Amino acid sequence: MQVVPRIAIERMRPEDIPAVQVIEREIFLSPWPRNAYATELAQNRQASYIVLREDGELVGYAGLWKVVHEAHVTTIGVRGREQGKGYGKTLFAALIQRSYDLGARWMTLEVRAGNDNAVRLYEWFGFKSIGRRRGYYTDNGEDAVIMWSDSIHAPAFKRRFLDIFRGIDVPGIGTAPSAEYPL
Ligand SMILES: CC(C)(COP(=O)(O)OP(=O)(O)OC[C@H]1O[C@@H](n2cnc3c(N)ncnc32)[C@H](O)[C@@H]1OP(=O)(O)O)[C@@H](O)C(=O)NCCC(=O)NCCS
Repeated sequence: MQVVPRIAIERMRPEDIPAVQVIEREIFLSPWPRNAYATELAQNRQASYIVLREDGELVGYAGLWKVVHEAHVTTIGVRGREQGKGYGKTLFAALIQRSYDLGARWMTLEVRAGNDNAVRLYEWFGFKSIGRRRGYYTDNGEDAVIMWSDSIHAPAFKRRFLDIFRGIDVPGIGTAPSAEYPL
């Protein structure tokens, strides 16, 4: 008998895309176009996408692009009825872990100014709002808030991350970065 861990993080595979798109259409005002994920997985060597499964079912996903020294978070989403259960934190912690693995120095993202849940999540990991792009989202004219981590190797950022990371016991999340500074 195969034992399926209740919660697990895995790399996103092409066969995950239909389930990702169902969630995408549920939670985002402007979902990515149909073939965007297929292109990302097949052709974008800077891209790294993960999924979170609960009892084998895909309930969340996230991704980043590693561009030179930066890890740019491109997306994160959790199915509506599974939000508020800690899965967003788990996915975001997994993205930070991958940023260490990929040799990034900083992380950045854009978020809708009114997306309080997401902003709180990023702030919880120590990200800070450093600017705004006025009317960036063309679907409703909302501003984008640009958020950055400190250097992910800075002792305070890494200490906080390690505290959070050690509390997350999820298969597939990867190994904690070395506590030494610099790496
Ligand atoms: C943002 C998102 C990924 C967070 O995932 P989640 O699984 O709901 O988040 P978690 O349960 O891990 O909660 C993380 C923190 O986010 C905040 N939060 C998330 N959902 C919340 C909710 N429904 N009500 C209040 N706070 C919430 C809280 O600060 C929470 O911290 P806490 O548990 O210490 O209170 C999820 O809400 C989502 O998919 N939203 C729609 C898509 C989206 O906006 N993505 C971000 C684009 S930049």
